[in-house]
Amino acid sequence: MQETFTSVSADLNSQRVFPWISDGLAFGGDYSPEQWPEETWLEDVELMRRAGVNSVNLGVFSWGLLEVADGVFEWGWLDRIMDLLHAGGVGVNLATPTAAPPMWLLAAHPEITTVDEFGHRTQRGGRLAWDPSSPVFRTYALRMVRALAERYGQHPALRLWHVSNEIGNENARSYSPDAEREWQVWLERRFGDIEALNSAWGTTFWGHHYTSFDQVMPPRHARTGHNPGLLLDFERFTSDALLGHYLAEREVLRGVTPDIPITTNFMVMGSPSTADYGRWAREVDLVANDHYTQGADPEREGELSFSADRVRGMSGGRPWLLIEHSTSAVNWQTINRAKSRGELARNSLAHVARGADGALFFQWRASTAGSEQYHSAIVPHAGADSRVFREVTELGATLRALAPIRGSRVAPARVALLLDEASAYAWRSGRKPHGELGYFDLPLKFHRELTRRHVAVDVIAPGELGGYDLVIVPTLYLATPGTDEALAAVVERGGHVLVSYLSGIVDPHNRVISGGYPGAYRDLLGVWVDEHYPLFDDEVVPLDSGASAHGWTERVAVRGAETLARFAGGELVGEPAITRRTVGSGTATYLAARLDRAGLGTLVDDLLALAGIEPVVVAEAGLEVSRRVSDSASYLFLINHADVERTAHASGTDLVSGATYDGVVGVPAGAVVVLEESR
Ligand code: GLA
Repeated sequence: MQETFTSVSADLNSQRVFPWISDGLAFGGDYSPEQWPEETWLEDVELMRRAGVNSVNLGVFSWGLLEVADGVFEWGWLDRIMDLLHAGGVGVNLATPTAAPPMWLLAAHPEITTVDEFGHRTQRGGRLAWDPSSPVFRTYALRMVRALAERYGQHPALRLWHVSNEIGNENARSYSPDAEREWQVWLERRFGDIEALNSAWGTTFWGHHYTSFDQVMPPRHARTGHNPGLLLDFERFTSDALLGHYLAEREVLRGVTPDIPITTNFMVMGSPSTADYGRWAREVDLVANDHYTQGADPEREGELSFSADRVRGMSGGRPWLLIEHSTSAVNWQTINRAKSRGELARNSLAHVARGADGALFFQWRASTAGSEQYHSAIVPHAGADSRVFREVTELGATLRALAPIRGSRVAPARVALLLDEASAYAWRSGRKPHGELGYFDLPLKFHRELTRRHVAVDVIAPGELGGYDLVIVPTLYLATPGTDEALAAVVERGGHVLVSYLSGIVDPHNRVISGGYPGAYRDLLGVWVDEHYPLFDDEVVPLDSGASAHGWTERVAVRGAETLARFAGGELVGEPAITRRTVGSGTATYLAARLDRAGLGTLVDDLLALAGIEPVVVAEAGLEVSRRVSDSASYLFLINHADVERTAHASGTDLVSGATYDGVVGVPAGAVVVLEESR
């Protein structure tokens, strides 16, 4: 059987090395000059200079304005703005405009759009909409891409190809006839023969035995649950089909402009996406991410840091680019809250602190028409005499002062947190014991507890764990081959591993590993779980340690581990809730309960003490800290999320103000200080 899908991001495409896309850190945003009269362009470029913008994403949705009829191209406006931007010292990340097919194409070929699981075809009037499995769409898209590359490939403003836009955002999971054909080909390539598929998915259940690949439908609406193996493979297929479109565009671009780097904007934020970005990251010359905070989440900065650490993991620790975020409100949440004073800079710099070599916004100028008319921008509806424009301009000055950090990397962490899209896909593929637990629930909580303690953590896919002293494995549901050995090796060399409930439960085909949970890690942990006990919303189960369990518990028997905490109430009273197996100086801890915040914090303190892990610096609560290092320097980011001054123990020179500190740094309420540390 051929393995067509993995999520290990180890062998990143590191052969192609390009000059960075801007002088200093990249700063700017999506620019849609086509929405404005040309007089406004002159003002735009003037304001860009004032704000310190050096990089824009151009042409993202402009296909219908460039190819005005089938095969009829009109480049005039794009020629003029490319020249104008170049003259103004602004570099261009030129988008292939395939994220919005033109109306003439949609009218002539309605079959290029996606179809949902109920058979509804996506109609005209939105964006993306195209089916990555449509050969007709592919032909038109690649013709456009080639024409664009041939026209602008030598333009001096061009720094980066920005392929399409958020591929998969509004066009993931198509159930069309085209998708069905490609899915069947994909399955045949993966399994080789139909009996291998039958065996992997366990199709004896409900007598689903297939006798040929053309009987295997995409999981269209069927009133009952589909086979979990089929659902998981459909997730993989979806990611591969979308990636296939990126690769096809990349091939054209590389053929025309081999020396221009190529990327596409990922959506690493919030919940797991439909694209397996760990795998996609190997195919881009620069990992670029879009990130938007949830205004209603009081701890949104924690999710931001988690996402930024994930992106760094995908880029193998190399600098990456924050290619979109917002200056203030978005327009797609229920209540679109404006960012508070200083939040814009804290958000941007938190990404930079965690490895981004630039911060671009969606968007330069707020649209007056169109479905995003209330989305924030660098230049809001009110114009440049506005709080947001002033804050962006200040940020531009800050980023210019931070130019020396470009190319530095986040200092290596001693803690790894394992995260894997395959586990997310497997967990959401099929009916589960708890239908409301999302895959990111526990990883995000662990990340928050570590970050609050100012401890650096690498968020990485399962694979080589060589340099880590503490490895946290939260709800890593699917056991990728080799992860058990890699974890055992950590413990054997004296390191420490924490595995939580719902880890190592299924194999790569989403089949339960039988013989007691957690099948893949029972021996490592010295435990054996015979039954899950998910809890209803109003149930709280105390532990004898003082912690409490919410949402999840399970019946554990120790087989070589000691019990650290027991359930002190409920059905499982007296049974182990947290256990530890000791091997020489290494340990393997098992967490069988979804703990309250304080309980999880106590566990994290215990693990950090066990592994002897210190914070990046000693700092007060409310400060977010991160260190980037180069061969010759070390830079400390101190981001104050509190509304009073906070202090950290550090020495060095403030890269922005030039102030020097010897021992203690006071960071004003809501401010950010970046120090070049004394050596
Ligand atoms: C995404 C898209 C942008 C825009 C923003 C709005 O990031 O890439 O085109 O729609 O969302 O938040």
